[in-house]
Amino acid sequence: MGCCHADFAQVEESDRGFTLGMPTFTFGAGVLAEAGDNAVDLGLKRVALFTDRKLATGEHVAKVKASLAAAHVDTIIYDEVAIEPTDASLKQAARFAREANVDGYVSVGGGSVMDTCKAANLYATHPADFMTYVNAPIGGGQRVPGPVKPHIGCPTTSGTGSEATGIAIFTLASLNAKTGIISRRLIPTIALIDPDVTKTLPSNVVAATGFDCMSHALESITARAWPRRLNPAKGVGRPVSQGANSFSDALAAQALDAVGKYLVRAVGDASDVEARTEMMYAALLAGIAFNAAGCHLPHGLSYAVSGLTRDWHVAGYPDGKSLVPHGMAVVLNNPSVWRHTAPAHPERHLHCARCLGAEMRGATLDDAGEVLGSRVIEMMKATGMPNGLTALGFGEKEIDALATGAEPQYRVIKNAPVDIGRDEIKSLFRAALRYW
Ligand SMILES: NC(=O)c1ccc[n+]([C@@H]2O[C@H](COP(=O)([O-])OP(=O)(O)OC[C@H]3O[C@@H](n4cnc5c(N)ncnc54)[C@H](O)[C@@H]3O)[C@@H](O)[C@H]2O)c1
Ligand SMILES: [Fe+2]
Repeated sequence: MGCCHADFAQVEESDRGFTLGMPTFTFGAGVLAEAGDNAVDLGLKRVALFTDRKLATGEHVAKVKASLAAAHVDTIIYDEVAIEPTDASLKQAARFAREANVDGYVSVGGGSVMDTCKAANLYATHPADFMTYVNAPIGGGQRVPGPVKPHIGCPTTSGTGSEATGIAIFTLASLNAKTGIISRRLIPTIALIDPDVTKTLPSNVVAATGFDCMSHALESITARAWPRRLNPAKGVGRPVSQGANSFSDALAAQALDAVGKYLVRAVGDASDVEARTEMMYAALLAGIAFNAAGCHLPHGLSYAVSGLTRDWHVAGYPDGKSLVPHGMAVVLNNPSVWRHTAPAHPERHLHCARCLGAEMRGATLDDAGEVLGSRVIEMMKATGMPNGLTALGFGEKEIDALATGAEPQYRVIKNAPVDIGRDEIKSLFRAALRYW
């Protein structure tokens, strides 16, 4: 699928091109030891190291701290990142960043940590009322006015790809749903992706983040093609997420191939270094891909599920607060979506199924949604995912509330390959109640 593929044919009002952003990244076992040299190379003398409470006392943060100390980079630690951040937790992190008086940032953690660091860097560098930069129509949607300070992102989970994106996601308490801040300026300057970190990952975190990665790749390939995106801003104002494009296609296909081969193995065996390393790389590829292509329905619908679930706990995540891991909320809305969107682009859905390792014998374009949906269900079963939204306590009588929760997500929902209204959203949630 090249740039001139018919899927990307220009139409009247098409933008003249698409823009790709990504960090300078280093991938390989042991590269966390390069944090200090990278900080010096960026001219940093004093950095704020962001992490979460659990990781703060662990070996990965210790490695990065040692590397910074060896390079004589003064380091101040912020370990109060909330797992699944909120507007309140981001504001607290921003206050810390403003007072820390640093010339750069290092984040060591999963998506929660890297996203919190991006937001803290933004508000400390360009102070503004919190809602100013939050996606419109929920927030002001104002452009980030200039560069932020250098940020070295060190992911410790294998799924979000946040080390490669200009996206910071959080739950807005007043809305009880997730939203975000998006700007190419928020892409970390440098990403150090060290698959050694995966050996301490609980299997549930590998499963949830792995499905997040899978969905980033699937949504990139099946998004509305960039010449037909609805946001008309052009040039430097071009949105970060522009729709399916040939660069994202290639990376996402490679990520899906790895997810199909290695996710189940990576979940099942913490000592399977090959599988866990491949998932770490797949997360990076899918992160670069979806940053430019954008997510659509599975993510848009997941935000309502995360906001409305009560009393849900998963081993490997912090005790004491109800929490649906992001990737779990996303995968629960996968098979139902693929069955619905496949007729819009059957070749692309079939291509995704093939990359994921689905049984393709005799499959025709008419079967695309079913083949892809069934392959995802097969992997959900093999990794202990819940059987649909019913398992989280949702039923027919919650469908209306779920649809209302998803409506503020039209920014991503409009990136879907088909037009979606409230009735379709309700049907999609209904179809996600139970899968087997
Ligand atoms: N910015 C983006 O582009 C983007 C993309 C996808 C998701 N997200 C966001 O990222 C957040 C989720 O991030 P996540 O899924 O990476 O998980 P997380 O950061 O929320 O961490 C989950 C749990 O895993 C633990 N953990 C992390 N690394 C570990 C390790 N190596 N060993 C042992 N335990 C470890 C954490 O302490 C925590 O308890 C959500 O808020 C989601 O919306 C952001
Ligand atoms: Fe995600």
